[in-house]
Amino acid sequence: MNTLVIGSQWGDEGKGKVIDFLTETADFVVRSQGGSNAGHTVIANGKKYVLHLVPSGILWQGKVNVIGNGVVINPTSLVEEMQYLRDLGVSITPDNLLISDRAHVVLPIHKEIDAAQEEALGDQKIGTTKQGIGPTYADKARRIGIRMADFVDPVRLRQVLEARIKTANEELVRLGWPAADPRVTLDAVMAAADVLRPHICNTIPVLNKGISAGKTVLFEGAQGAMLDIDFGTYPFVTSSNTSAGGCCTGSGVPPTRIDKIIGVCKAYTTRVGAGPFATEDSEIADYLHGLGREFGATTGRPRRCGWADGVVLRYSSMFNGFNEMSMTNLDGLDEMSTIKICTAYRLGDEVLEYPPALIEDWEQCEPIYEELPGWQQDITQCTTWEQLPANCQAYVKRFGEIIGCPVGSVGVGPDREQTIQVPH
Ligand code: GDP
Ligand code: IMO
Ligand code: MG
Repeated sequence: MNTLVIGSQWGDEGKGKVIDFLTETADFVVRSQGGSNAGHTVIANGKKYVLHLVPSGILWQGKVNVIGNGVVINPTSLVEEMQYLRDLGVSITPDNLLISDRAHVVLPIHKEIDAAQEEALGDQKIGTTKQGIGPTYADKARRIGIRMADFVDPVRLRQVLEARIKTANEELVRLGWPAADPRVTLDAVMAAADVLRPHICNTIPVLNKGISAGKTVLFEGAQGAMLDIDFGTYPFVTSSNTSAGGCCTGSGVPPTRIDKIIGVCKAYTTRVGAGPFATEDSEIADYLHGLGREFGATTGRPRRCGWADGVVLRYSSMFNGFNEMSMTNLDGLDEMSTIKICTAYRLGDEVLEYPPALIEDWEQCEPIYEELPGWQQDITQCTTWEQLPANCQAYVKRFGEIIGCPVGSVGVGPDREQTIQVPH
């Protein structure tokens, strides 16, 4: 079974936890898009790990973790993350962490351009993670990017870096920012290249030959479907295809070899950064923040919070082809007396089942809610479906009906074990 795990909302759905749970039966764990903008939390063996670029399978022994061609890699961030994991006792070798030679490289200069572009947007800013993601994917599309293959020969690397730093500095100056010191970039990237070099290879045959030999692959989606550059709340999106198709283009594993697609959603909705969010609700945000929940794993920013949005989830289930939904953070609704779920949007005289294309229209959409009674009890100790209160079961079932995709499991707490299978 080669399985994709994809965020179905605006990221931070709890993909790290779901992937960790599924890793037991996988041989390879693959990241295929995004970069260090991702922050995936896994709580395992009593320890908390936050992963940005390294696939979560690194926390298991005997798994091969692949950073695929579609990922953009900040070499210094990756080296730091490898050190952070080693300090927590995780073993990382060229055998259990492979880096695609086709993956593009995020330079310090891309982060500077990201910050400069955001500042130039003023109150229209996207609220990026300032990890240089957009500018690096822009370089890739402009066919001027640096790839991990360029890291293999240090002499060649120095040449391509010097050339790119020069043109990037011209770009920064045009944005009204000071030019970056070329030495800083050169020294940082050359040093990181020495650490990463043994991990770089052509990961495409490794994965495909592995599958032919009966090995199984688990894809660790990053971000979420509504941040997809094609299907999301454009331009308030990230710069990659975060949806199912991105797993294939970002890894070289073709669609014919994918067996199952799991969407991950929260029982409610969160979003970091700017952009439309029809079901945003300050009461649920205050409640969750008061519990110390919903602060960004990468930036620490408080996440915007709201009710579950059936329009978003129906749409993302459709274009991702989810076989089932893994719902997390159901326990986040424990104290609510009434729970709302948006079934459609009202835009002027129209009722919409799917989101509109124009951001101005999306911002005008009024959610149409269905209200369900809450369960008002602690479910974090429940271990089976039967133990969940009746109102809780009813919410999960109704949720699946509204979005047109069955809920296959629910999360009742952040630990690996706090996952309950939902009977069909
Ligand atoms: P990701 O980016 O999709 O991997 O998600 P994040 O790690 O950024 O955010 C998800 C947050 O929810 C993390 O703090 C997780 O530990 C937490 N989490 C995941 N599933 C559950 C759950 O079922 N219940 C609770 N209480 N927390 C959860
Ligand atoms: P995980 O994998 C939540 C958001 C940013 C911003 C937009 C563009 O942890 O779910 P970018 O830096 O990518 O150019 O920012 O995308 N964003 C995320 N939001 N979770 C993430 O990753 C995100 N990665 C990017 O907040 O709105
Ligand atoms: Mg996250």
